[in-house]
Amino acid sequence: MNQTAQLLNQARDAVEGTTTLDELDAVRVKYLGRKGLLTVRLKELGGLSADERPAAGQIINEAKQALTAAIKTRRNVLEKERIQATLQADGLDVSLPGRGHVSGTLHPVTRTLRRMLRIFAHAGFEVHTGPEVEDEYYNFTALNIPKDHPARAMHDTFYLESGLLLRTHTSPVQIRAMEKHGVPIRLIAPGRAYRCDSDLTHTPMFTQVEVLTVDRGISFANLKSFTYEFLSSFFEREVELRFRPSYFPFTEPSAEVDVLSESGRWLEILGCGMVHPKVLKNVGVDPEEYTGYALGFGVERLAMLRYGVDDLRLFFENDIRFLEQFR
Ligand code: FA5
Ligand code: MG
Repeated sequence: MNQTAQLLNQARDAVEGTTTLDELDAVRVKYLGRKGLLTVRLKELGGLSADERPAAGQIINEAKQALTAAIKTRRNVLEKERIQATLQADGLDVSLPGRGHVSGTLHPVTRTLRRMLRIFAHAGFEVHTGPEVEDEYYNFTALNIPKDHPARAMHDTFYLESGLLLRTHTSPVQIRAMEKHGVPIRLIAPGRAYRCDSDLTHTPMFTQVEVLTVDRGISFANLKSFTYEFLSSFFEREVELRFRPSYFPFTEPSAEVDVLSESGRWLEILGCGMVHPKVLKNVGVDPEEYTGYALGFGVERLAMLRYGVDDLRLFFENDIRFLEQFR
């Protein structure tokens, strides 16, 4: 009897000392399993006299019940602890600050283009488009750049096997629009252009916005004031710019415009001029009656200036660390 009581005390201590369900189960097997210390004692009852057997059996059975109850209680505690630990490890804590939602951004060139389009829309320009795969007539000939003209070599053109080409500028849209709609006309033509070109300020694909205004009495003064007004609303500050005399076969006189960047370098942003009489004649417009100005903006160049980017090629490398800066 004493031994049973001792065994029970020992077993209870062992139960209280467990810290995991596995440990608890090991204790259960040790005392209550088929060869467990208490189970074995029941089998030993056979060695007792018939008088002693019932009382001793009762004591052992009570001890087994007591131990079973103690194990059950302990199991409840350990199970609760385990659930608590799991909840803490991977549960949802609604009081934590959120992790935030990472959304994409518009590409800086897209943002620049949209900004330009807003300003032009305000000034009443209509948007026209033309194909990126062009033929020689629209890209060159109609723009007064005949075959074998040195200006064709200046353009580093990508030719297709079909004899067509990737347009080298958006100027062919001038021709297509005037052919279709006649004059007076006031349009912008945003779009991609292609040249076999790559350095700090050139990429093989780039974006231009063509501007064309043809009407009676348009002068170079109109071209200049248009350019100044556009650039000051685009940059929202006084920009230093220079009108540099230049040459394009489809304008006369011609100029290019450079803007002083924040790092102190002059960057060419556009070519422009008064529409050449031959170009007007090519689309059936009388140059004695009508005059016009045209410009071709480099959109990436404006993006470089606006965002302080020194290498135009960065716009097309799609490095997420670069793009993320334009939120
Ligand atoms: C032209 O493309 C003329 N069509 C512009 C024009 C239109 C003149 C209407 C007169 C009347 P130019 O080759 O200079 O001109 O290019 C115009 C602008 O496009 C440049 O000032 C520059 O900003 C941009 N540009 C030209 N080539 C590239 C290139 N490879 N990568 C990025 N931008 C370019
Ligand atoms: Mg140029």
